[in-house]
Amino acid sequence: MATLGVAGMCLVRARGERFGGNSALGRARMRGARLQCAGPRVFEVEMEHEGKIHTLRVPEDETILSKALEEGVEVPHDCKLGVCMTCPAKLERGRVNQSEGMLSDDVVDKGYALLCVAYPLEDCRIRTIPEDELVSLQLVTSSD
Ligand code: FES
Repeated sequence: MATLGVAGMCLVRARGERFGGNSALGRARMRGARLQCAGPRVFEVEMEHEGKIHTLRVPEDETILSKALEEGVEVPHDCKLGVCMTCPAKLERGRVNQSEGMLSDDVVDKGYALLCVAYPLEDCRIRTIPEDELVSLQLVTSSD
């Protein structure tokens, strides 16, 4: 069975078919072909909150906050836009994309994150922290 596709996008699978010509999909012979969506990658996020460890399976296109709330973990939050800093956390392992948030680069480099704009890039371990810890750090670095 031949497969055409790109990670995270829909795949076209065809049994015994040729994919040739100038346009792979456009000129593919599609006899017996079926469309299969591979979907987003899913990462394991181990989240420590109020002394408990929660293991979440978070798709790359979903925030850690969203998945935590969906799983019934009562994590503090408000704006869900990466602005109010009500959902702070410290990344202990792994990487997240939080480019939508307002944290300064040096605070992000120290491993701090806002759960509402944190999309996992790999398996992670993250711990929620008191809001004051991140607010004071962000104020110090933004006034430099
Ligand atoms: S809920 Fe406001 S910054 Fe996350």
